Amino acid sequence: MAAIYEPSAAAETSLDGPAVAVIVVAAGSGTRLGAGIPKAFVSLAGSTVLEHALAPVFRLREPVQLVLVVPADRVGEAETIGRRAAGRGSDHLRVVVGGETRQESVLNGLAALWPGVRTVLVHDAARALTPTAQFERVIEAAARTGWGVVPALPVTDTIKQVDASAVVERTIDRTELRAVQTPQAFPRDALVAAFRVAADRLATATDDAALYADAGHPVVTVEGSEAAFKITTPWDAQRAERLLTEPAATEAHAGAGDADTGSTTTQPGRIRTGIGIDVHAFAEEGELHLAGLSWPGERALAGHSDGDAVAHAIVDALLSAAGLGDIGSMFGTDDPRFAGARGSVFLEAAVERLRAAGYEVVNVAVQLVGNRPRFAPRRLEAESALGALVGAPVSIAATTTDALGFTGRGEGVAAVVTALIERR
Ligand code: CTP
Ligand code: MG
Repeated sequence: MAAIYEPSAAAETSLDGPAVAVIVVAAGSGTRLGAGIPKAFVSLAGSTVLEHALAPVFRLREPVQLVLVVPADRVGEAETIGRRAAGRGSDHLRVVVGGETRQESVLNGLAALWPGVRTVLVHDAARALTPTAQFERVIEAAARTGWGVVPALPVTDTIKQVDASAVVERTIDRTELRAVQTPQAFPRDALVAAFRVAADRLATATDDAALYADAGHPVVTVEGSEAAFKITTPWDAQRAERLLTEPAATEAHAGAGDADTGSTTTQPGRIRTGIGIDVHAFAEEGELHLAGLSWPGERALAGHSDGDAVAHAIVDALLSAAGLGDIGSMFGTDDPRFAGARGSVFLEAAVERLRAAGYEVVNVAVQLVGNRPRFAPRRLEAESALGALVGAPVSIAATTTDALGFTGRGEGVAAVVTALIERR
């Protein structure tokens, strides 16, 4: 039982923060997509493009500083999305406002790096289905070579050079051509210097590696992935939506070892579901703690711990999904260390156990049953608080039971929870 309280290893993080940073540029307006809102905030298969883009970053093995670069009027929304996606790693998150061009947005991101960062990855939010393995390949090559690193794919179309009247002048030998993607990795100091030197050419550079190479530094390619295509037009968005909703399409698309782009997959045993139920009676005195929030003025719930039936049912659902027992077997109600403990303590420990067992939480769905407290006004707040603890979306529905049963008589509350988890 003591193991749950051991601090997690974070060897790569010095006092100055992580050694690797990922700048995700998401400040474009998405003109060619034409959705009427900035591209990164367009919904794809139920989540924003930005949320999809962040998922692989949070699957990385090593801790990274994450810098989100977004339009000025989207900072609050990006912070919520980033914190929710980051879960317990949200203290490594910074959100900054972008510039007129992509490269100006990158520059603003560079200005937000913490002192300890040695290697910086720059990634387009628009490449929302980029596999985690692609990030890892790039990070590994950057560490091994000390060079700039870009993921790249061979060009499959035949490339022609044409004149101003669209008449073909010549066919270009494509064997030496590569189409490059993101994330692109660079030694931090050299990239910052390259941007400084190229200050007057920022608007015309099409990628970061071009500026970096112009400053005289070597750049090497690693294998890219078809799944890392950039969502630019409505056709791209439809393709991304289909890949996210049809697992078979994702696997065929991503290729062996890269098939983590969608939220679902057909690999047996990789996706698991769990259920949890908890009931607590109202107490005579004390403060109410429910769904990760304090509720001043509301009647408290009784229990050995804080009585947070929602948090406890989530813990059971998570442990059930992973086959790790239940809250009683893991924490023991007779253990004095857990007397009065907050639901968040159990939740964090359960999520840590899951991660140690190789699982990530995909989502959690809660049904709260009871007359009080009136839940709707604080639902979003509760979803956000629990989402941050769990590191995945948590949705909460609340209902009464039409005056029937113990919840209808106002004797207590019940929470029923399902959880979906995925093997990393
Ligand atoms: N980007 C940015 N700041 C800008 C322009 C682009 O952060 N001023 C980001 C986009 O959000 C995107 C990436 O750079 O993640 C690649 O740009 P692109 O695909 O061109 O996106 P948009 O500029 O949004 O699209 P469009 O050119 O169609 O307007
Ligand atoms: Mg653009």
